[in-house]
Amino acid sequence: MAEVNTRKILILGSSGMLGNAMLRLFCDSAGLDVRGTVRRWPPGDVLPRSLHSKVICGVDVESADALTRLFAEIRPDVVINCVGVVKQLVFSARPPGCPACQLHIAAPSGQAL
Ligand SMILES: NC(=O)c1ccc[n+]([C@@H]2O[C@H](COP(=O)([O-])OP(=O)(O)OC[C@H]3O[C@@H](n4cnc5c(N)ncnc54)[C@H](OP(=O)(O)O)[C@@H]3O)[C@@H](O)[C@H]2O)c1
Repeated sequence: MAEVNTRKILILGSSGMLGNAMLRLFCDSAGLDVRGTVRRWPPGDVLPRSLHSKVICGVDVESADALTRLFAEIRPDVVINCVGVVKQLVFSARPPGCPACQLHIAAPSGQAL
């Protein structure tokens, strides 16, 4: 049974360098119910099998509908956006405006980081 004061944490981009570290860290923390999203399954070697049950696959943050469904289903207290539009990649030249860049608006309770 879940603890009464358990907080739900949703980590977007859990297959990335930052996201997988966040997922590991928070899964080891007491009082948190943690889920992480990935675009593709399997997420590669970056996540140990012991964490696979915490992972929701098929989440592309450029789909506003997918994010809306995800938030409605999980109802997180906090969303941590670790999706990276990293400098090394060609598409990082695209200006901000995709849903991933607007998560602070879309997240529940105004608690996205
Ligand atoms: N790494 C650090 O030490 C560090 C420190 C401070 C800040 N940051 C910032 O944190 C962010 C992530 O950095 P990182 O080093 O973790 O990058 P990374 O290893 O390249 O990870 C990027 C992640 O974003 C996911 N992603 C990209 N486009 C997506 C989309 N449309 N939908 C869903 N997921 C998508 C990737 O999924 P796929 O695996 O499917 O491609 C991957 O999980 C960047 O903005 C970076 O500037 C990183």
